[in-house]
Amino acid sequence: MTYHYDTTGRACYLMQDITVLQEEILRLKEQKNAIILAHNYQRPEIQDIADVIGDSLELARAAVGMKGDVIVFCGVDFMAETAAILSPEKIVLLPAPDACCPMAGMVTADELRFARTRHPGAAVVCYVNTTAEVKAESDICCTSANAVKVVNSVNEDTVIFVPDKNLGQYAARFTVKKILPWEGFCLVHDRYTPADVALAKQAHPGAAVLVHPECRPDVIDCADHVASTSGILSHVKSDPQNEFIIGTENGILHRLAKECPGKRCYPLSDKAICVNMKKTDLVKVRDTLVTLKPRITVPEEIAARARGAIESMLAL
Ligand code: 13P
Ligand code: SF4
Repeated sequence: MTYHYDTTGRACYLMQDITVLQEEILRLKEQKNAIILAHNYQRPEIQDIADVIGDSLELARAAVGMKGDVIVFCGVDFMAETAAILSPEKIVLLPAPDACCPMAGMVTADELRFARTRHPGAAVVCYVNTTAEVKAESDICCTSANAVKVVNSVNEDTVIFVPDKNLGQYAARFTVKKILPWEGFCLVHDRYTPADVALAKQAHPGAAVLVHPECRPDVIDCADHVASTSGILSHVKSDPQNEFIIGTENGILHRLAKECPGKRCYPLSDKAICVNMKKTDLVKVRDTLVTLKPRITVPEEIAARARGAIESMLAL
């Protein structure tokens, strides 16, 4: 028997089951009038059945504009919450309910309220990787694709930026505003070091280095280009160069290989795996479509305030 293993070494399903499961999911999707949104870090076999694959900003926009009654969100909890906030009339399903973003847990609404009392007059910009409660306490939301634009859009001269210190420090490079970065970080991106970049460049001397802004400042300094996951993809597509070292979660490599034939993309590190992003598998997607569970909902009094922060970002 040949098993398909995920990137953490866990056996998921028999190889011959993949196509069977994918066909079953596509049938159920029609029956339930559902759409599947998948983040760029999802497993290849999930990306291959998605209606939309994208970065956080693209998926938030897709959640607003999609037809259908049901959204199956293949990603992590804050992404499904964002979809539920933006499309309260739809049933939003998260096939792996334990798929969370540890960084989103690094700031709470209480902590943020306290920070506001310490810095009256400062604007609060929250990364989309936050809970609905934290978004509800924020002035405006941002993603990795638009953090600089969002920070520069607020009227205040000082910005409390939660929770990613690296993204906050990255935005600080492109603004005259005073950024007060929170102490959060991504367990995957914060692990890259300049030594990893040096090693990868030694192995692939002609390759350009593309990294995500969740990387540490010293890694950003080594990069040729810094962008969101979809920004990295469009850069590889449009750059005449042929070889790239990719400094973001390795799930993006599937899309890069599929959509950029002829280009060679190497992971900056083999260890860049977000275990939470890999919790969604075909069996869970199939089961969620059968049962229409687990459903993600956000209480309206929180959703209404969080929606304000997200819609301010989308309006930019
Ligand atoms: P993107 O919005 O760039 O896809 O990033 C989401 C994320 O979780 C990065 O770790
Ligand atoms: Fe969160 Fe990092 Fe995983 Fe993105 S890659 S979901 S920021 S832990």
